[in-house]
Amino acid sequence: MKICVVGTGTMGGGIVQTIAQAGIEIWMKGRSQASIDRAVNKIESGLKRLVDREKITEDKKDEIVSKIHTTLSFDDIKDSDLIIEAIAEDIELKKETLRQLDEICKPESIFATNTSSFSITELSMVTNRPEMVIGMHFFNPVPIMKLVEVIKGQHTNENVYNVVLNLTEEIGKTAVTVNESPGFVVNRLLIPMINEGIATLADGAATKEEIDTAMKLGASHPMGPLALADLIGLDVCLAIMEVLHNEFGDDKYRPHPLMRKMVRAKLLGRKTGKGFYDYNR
Ligand code: CAA
Repeated sequence: MKICVVGTGTMGGGIVQTIAQAGIEIWMKGRSQASIDRAVNKIESGLKRLVDREKITEDKKDEIVSKIHTTLSFDDIKDSDLIIEAIAEDIELKKETLRQLDEICKPESIFATNTSSFSITELSMVTNRPEMVIGMHFFNPVPIMKLVEVIKGQHTNENVYNVVLNLTEEIGKTAVTVNESPGFVVNRLLIPMINEGIATLADGAATKEEIDTAMKLGASHPMGPLALADLIGLDVCLAIMEVLHNEFGDDKYRPHPLMRKMVRAKLLGRKTGKGFYDYNR
């Protein structure tokens, strides 16, 4: 199978690394050489950490990196059997990319979208092959997190589902099958918890450190909700809350105003260097 990831951000790079680590050749399509270089450098430094911890050898690291092929051109990926779309969480951008892929790719190409919350059915309907479109939702940090939510849209074909299920297993992840519904499973539970963490902070109930420590030690979460918001990105959290709010029409999913204010101020978390915590220090 020729597999390609479209997108060079945190998720795109993480998916590329994970597939290459499984010994599978992988293409990464970016919009600029600078974004590709940034993604490859991040993958290399992630792998270097594994070398330093004696988890893999230097030769193994080189072998993994050699599996990664990069391109700026759609032309190089039009013969892909599977394309994993991992661009920004913006529905119009995703639709535009899927339309473009639909035009140039061979009819048998499967399109898997790594959307965190948009409707797979809605995305699939901009193509002439809705039965070939599926959700493949990875979690951040991708090389470490074991889960992939495999989401069936209204038209997703059973064969496409099986191909994606097999690949998920081959790259060492566990798949959970989800029938499309807003937020799928994880984000429907996780992001409202983060929203409530933000409300708890805004109410002055406790400091950010205390809220995070409380959830780490009181609920055995690996990190607290505010640190997790910074990891995911406040913009992504807001986009997911808005999907839940709009789709269910239930005010229990109302994004907290502090979340909106921080997104407007570009305090998005790790990706901008500052969110609830300061990463520049
Ligand atoms: N590549 C491959 N492996 C790596 C790596 C990399 N770049 N970096 C670290 N690792 C490995 C390490 O070698 C280590 O392996 P061992 O346990 O075998 O030694 C392991 O990963 C853990 O690494 P660290 O010790 O550096 O990390 P940690 O123990 O401090 O945990 C964390 C960090 C994994 C982020 C943890 O805090 C955690 O699980 N946090 C919660 C993350 C979470 O909930 N993510 C989901 C977000 S929601 C989402 O993504 C979906 C969405 O749509 C919004």
